[in-house]
Formats: sequence, structure tokens, C-alpha cells
Amino acid sequence: MKDVITIDGPSGSGKGTISKLVAKKLGYSYLDTGALYRAVAWKAREENISTDDDKALELLTGTIRIEFKEEKIFADGNDISSAIRTAEIGEMSSRVSARPVVRAGLFNIQRDICLNGKVVIEGRDAGTTIVPESENKFFLDANVEERARRRFEELKLKDPDIILETTIEDIKKRDLRDSSRGTSPLQKTDDMIHIDSTSMTIEEVVNEIVRSLKHP
Ligand code: DC
Repeated sequence: MKDVITIDGPSGSGKGTISKLVAKKLGYSYLDTGALYRAVAWKAREENISTDDDKALELLTGTIRIEFKEEKIFADGNDISSAIRTAEIGEMSSRVSARPVVRAGLFNIQRDICLNGKVVIEGRDAGTTIVPESENKFFLDANVEERARRRFEELKLKDPDIILETTIEDIKKRDLRDSSRGTSPLQKTDDMIHIDSTSMTIEEVVNEIVRSLKHP
């Protein structure tokens, strides 16, 4: 399968920015799977559901209506585009994403989108679990200080009091949780092209991906 491009990688690796640009360049649609986990986390917080309450999370994941419209994301009709981009929801989404019931619930949504179009899908398990048959798989990485710096710049816009050291510690914790969980951990496999973006520009990464694509 060559119409689905998977881009996996840890927090702050630049997956979001890069995937959007690759999709735009190729005329593909773009699926931000982290936003799905963030939407579930947002709804769990709204409903005071604990991130280890599997029964409630299963029901929530099975009934939440998530829509992507014009670069915005809606959950049950609410525009949550901005509300899900906070450190708190980032942390909660990492916790709910470790629950197999949540992963199972979001699997079909992601798989259906990928099988019905030309898509750039970015996340943690796009190339290993959602569309393992893709022939265009990438793993995007950068060193932890650089990833924390990028995330810090993003979060600072909303929270001017944020401290860089805290962001570094948060990223390390999330890296560990995202790559050590039992179900679909973040994993780099041999069939992925590995790109370290630490000292590359956004344009260089986009070009490298486009250049490496296997076309039909
Ligand atoms: O990419 P992000 O920071 O928006 O992702 C939020 C959290 O969701 C992240 O901590 C890990 C989780 N996630 C996941 O487990 N699987 C995915 N495909 C995407 C995100």
C-alpha cells in the first residue's frame, strides 16, 4: 500500500508540522491521531472520569463523536482545537492512550480513514498497528532537549509561567510511558525510514520524506 504515508515519533519530534506540510505538498489528507487521544482525554476530564477507569473510558471512546473540519477538531459538537493543546491534556492523553480499551476504540476510526483515501497519518503506532502494510513509513525523532524546547515554545504561548526544566521532565516521562506500555508502544521498526530532525530545518525534513517515497 503506497497511498498511506505513516509518520511515527515521540512528542515534539515535529511530526505534526511535517505531516501537515507533506500532505499539503502531495494533495493528501492529514490525520493527527494524537488529537484523537487528546479528545478522549478532554472528554474524560469534562466528565470527571479517571484515566484508569476502563469501563467508563470504553463507553466514552465508543460514543464520542470526533470530527475534523477545516483544520479544527470537534468533540460532540464542541470546538476543542485549542483546549486539547495544554500540558494537562497532553499528560492525560498519554495516560488514556496506555489503556487498551481506548486504543481498541480508536483503531477502527483511524483504519477506516486510511483505507478510504490518500492519507498522511501521524502518531505512535501508525506504521506498526494502524496500517502496517503501508510501504511508506517514517520514524521522526530529535534529541530530548530539542524536542522539549519546541514543545516549550508552543506551550509558552498559552502559559507564560511555564518552565523549560518542567517541560523536559514531562517529555521524558511521556517518552517512557509511550514507549513502554504493553499495547502498541512507540516503536521504530526496520521497515521505517528514520529521520533525526535535531539539526534539520522543517523544509529539509519535508523534502527528505517526499524524496524517499515509493510511488505506485
Ligand atoms: O502526538 P500527541 O502529543 O498529540 O499525542 C498525545 C498522546 O497520545 C501521547 O502522549 C501518546 C498518545 N498517542 C498514542 O498513544 N498513539 C498515537 N497514535 C498518537 C498519540
